[in-house]
Amino acid sequence: MDLTYITYSIALLFFLFATYVRRGHKTIPVPPGPRSWRFSGVVHLISKHHPWISFARWSEKYGPIMSFRVYNQTIVVLNSAKAIHDLLDKRAALYSDRPRSWMLHDLCGRRDTVFNIPATNGRHRKYRSLIQTGLNQRATLSYAPVLEKELAVLLQRLKNAPESYQEHIRRNAAAVIMRVAYGYSVTEENDFFVRTAEEASQISGLAMAPGRWLVNYFPLLRFVPSWFPGAGFHRQATIWRKELNALSGIPHQWLRDQMAAGTDNDCFTTRLLKPSGGKAVSADEEDIIKWAAGGLYAGAADTTFSALTSFVLLMAVHPDIQDHARSEIIEIVGADRSPCVGDLSRFVYLAAVLKEVLRIAPVAPLAMPHQVIQEDEYDGYTIPKHATVMANVWSIMHDEEIYHEPLVFDPTRFISSKSGSSVQLDPRTYSFGFGRRTCPGSYFAETSMLLIMAGILSQFKISLPHKETATPGRVRALEYTSGITR
Ligand code: HEM
Repeated sequence: MDLTYITYSIALLFFLFATYVRRGHKTIPVPPGPRSWRFSGVVHLISKHHPWISFARWSEKYGPIMSFRVYNQTIVVLNSAKAIHDLLDKRAALYSDRPRSWMLHDLCGRRDTVFNIPATNGRHRKYRSLIQTGLNQRATLSYAPVLEKELAVLLQRLKNAPESYQEHIRRNAAAVIMRVAYGYSVTEENDFFVRTAEEASQISGLAMAPGRWLVNYFPLLRFVPSWFPGAGFHRQATIWRKELNALSGIPHQWLRDQMAAGTDNDCFTTRLLKPSGGKAVSADEEDIIKWAAGGLYAGAADTTFSALTSFVLLMAVHPDIQDHARSEIIEIVGADRSPCVGDLSRFVYLAAVLKEVLRIAPVAPLAMPHQVIQEDEYDGYTIPKHATVMANVWSIMHDEEIYHEPLVFDPTRFISSKSGSSVQLDPRTYSFGFGRRTCPGSYFAETSMLLIMAGILSQFKISLPHKETATPGRVRALEYTSGITR
């Protein structure tokens, strides 16, 4: 008996055993999806600009739960409200991690941020509890003077240069959150703190850019030495890591210096650093506070800006709805003063306009990716361990079975009428994310957006540039950028 014969016999035995085992255990399939190329998966099929629309189309063929591969990562996309709720909310203990970006989380050292930290890490719960308490209804109302002061600045800027409305809205979002998080007042045009925060968020965006860094898909590459040809990602990560470390420490250190000098303002961070009873916080507690405050800027900067920009565009193409909202504001506030936070609970129509903006132009059309921590089974499919799970929020917001004529911008769908027609699903159930990662800043976000909407409509009539004409009733094709927010 020679060696080749023995090798072949062993291989045959393994083959027969494997076939027997496979027949004995009926495997449950993964959800269906488009065919993948051997190396890159379906990268070539996904729209770079509107992936949520690609996914919605695919789901017509493959059903509400589908899956595919991007390099070696399994992605599961949930396209129905039921599947999203069943998995991301009801099984939140399994589905609330984030997929690991080796480039950003590990090589650039950003694993501890509120957005990236695994939900299974005890720090995540602490961050969320600080942010939820620091931005709940009572806390938000305590920031009313900040919101109202910054609204006045925004309205003045809009008066001086209405064509730069996007710039003014972006500045307002940054100014409000810097004041709330650190007690810092943005005064200059090109503010140093705002610039550093924007730089940090740009670097994070680049480090997470889908498909850009192979190390995210083939983590073993991280062991390739940095001098090795093709290991430019290591050198880039070293530069970004240093920059991000420096950037994230700057506002916290500034506030510490203000506190030492006795010139600090009341804000999210000082409320936590000076707890009642006067007991000093430990170094570890302070580190948690620092990262939680960092999450405020990351969460607030682009989101309210996106929704408010959509609001301005939608008002320009729906003058009748704009007039209706303005009449409500003037009726409640009068014509002599700007709206204030205390007025907001009385705006029924304007609150419906905000819901309709969040529905028709969702800020985060795919929410943020979640990761499942262990293999799971749902609706006859296996969801593999560590699969990335995405909720197609855009699909839900445009689902004809949930929203009558989903392409029509119609705030009244959220107002109960005398005729008894039922109110349609509140889009806030889906706009602010899911499970243990649901947005902890949603109350604050809604308050600040409603106030700005009311302020703008109370003083301005929004219209399209003269050469364009509105198409009443229908949303025109609004161009959006693509990313986590748009
Ligand atoms: C229109 C406004 C906003 C929208 C639509 C929005 C939406 C979202 C979404 C979809 C997520 C991800 C949830 C998930 O992974 O399932 C999220 C997370 C988060 N948001 Fe917001 N958000 C908004 C404003 C804000 C504001 C103003 C803040 C803070 C001041 C904030 C702070 C956060 C934080 C810290 C997280 C991370 C939560 C975690 O990973 O545990 N957001 N938000």
